[in-house]
Amino acid sequence: MRKQTVRDAELYGKKVLLRCDFNVPMENGAISDDTRIAASLDTIRYITDAGGRVIMCSHLGRPNGKADARYSLAPVAKRLSELLGFDVPLTEPGGAVPDAQAVLLENTRFYPGEEANDPELARKFATLADVFVNDAFGAAHRAHATTVGVASELPAYAGLLMERELDALGSLLDNPARPFTAILGGAKISDKLGVIDNLLDIVDNLLIGGGMAYTFICAANKNAQIGRSMFDAARLSYAVAMADKAARRGVKLLLPTDVIAAAEPKQGANSAEYPADAIPPDFMGLDIGAETRIRFADVIRKSATVFWNGPMGVFEIPEFSGGTTAVAEAMAESGAFTVVGGGDSLAAVNRLGLAAKMSRNATGGGAALEYLEGKTLPGIACLIDKEEH
Ligand code: 3PG
Repeated sequence: MRKQTVRDAELYGKKVLLRCDFNVPMENGAISDDTRIAASLDTIRYITDAGGRVIMCSHLGRPNGKADARYSLAPVAKRLSELLGFDVPLTEPGGAVPDAQAVLLENTRFYPGEEANDPELARKFATLADVFVNDAFGAAHRAHATTVGVASELPAYAGLLMERELDALGSLLDNPARPFTAILGGAKISDKLGVIDNLLDIVDNLLIGGGMAYTFICAANKNAQIGRSMFDAARLSYAVAMADKAARRGVKLLLPTDVIAAAEPKQGANSAEYPADAIPPDFMGLDIGAETRIRFADVIRKSATVFWNGPMGVFEIPEFSGGTTAVAEAMAESGAFTVVGGGDSLAAVNRLGLAAKMSRNATGGGAALEYLEGKTLPGIACLIDKEEH
């Protein structure tokens, strides 16, 4: 890592503004997955152990610059208190910050200036502290007041979680053990345009599943019958170009050859297995089929490095979750250096109880993809550089 970390900072007696990514999934007002909170504990403890006071801030959801109780960080403050074993009070926006070991400020996106990276708002946050530590890897691709703006007001360091995530992703880009396999899924190709292009320069195998696979299936075979499966006509030529690039570079591009399809993505829907290029007109592909699972798992097990982002099907519905499970299990058993890239894939791995079997679980999906795209992430670029010796 070329950035200074919290280990390089003077912390004793200092107030530390710690930007976390507590944008956790919520169901009916309760946190449904606390991975991001648990992943932040090391940095919080590091600062308090070093004699610093921690003033945490984070966004949650997209409340559009207005205070909205549905997006309150109150459940996060409660969970933090439980995990840390001491009370972490939640302060009101603009309210006084109590003199506690660690406090959490209310949702940064309750302020309209946050997403606009308003310098005035950044200064307001900066006046609360002496030092800024950014541990919000998951939001490092956002140039907001509390991820970037405050770094021009205070000495700015990377947190320990940020450091871990960058080390894991960095080792994918920097001389990875081979064969290196990337598995991409999820609904939309549009989220993955840059990353597919960049990964084709690096990997030996690229496995594509999920809703985005159907455009690639049509690119490979213009007579493919994909029924009502997801299809992005505007990206068809891109998919053709990527398949050509894979062939040119000797990258094995594996697409589903069979799928589980149904009339709609609903629990209990009448589903059956079909060849990926012969799906009935009223059906849509909702998961990869048995043969594809075996092909994908076989490549994964023979790999030395594996990166995965995006589910293979509509994994929230049990009958369409088998492909995602197969990929997660193959990774867990592979003995390879395995990195799960945030978002839905991490949720799936957690649900399957396989997180501990992966080498690394990146907490930020969008940020991980942008990093692997080769982009400079603004929330990292603004931190103090390591001194070159
Ligand atoms: C995430 O969950 O990917 C990050 O917290 C960023 O959230 P955003 O996409 O709402 O900016």
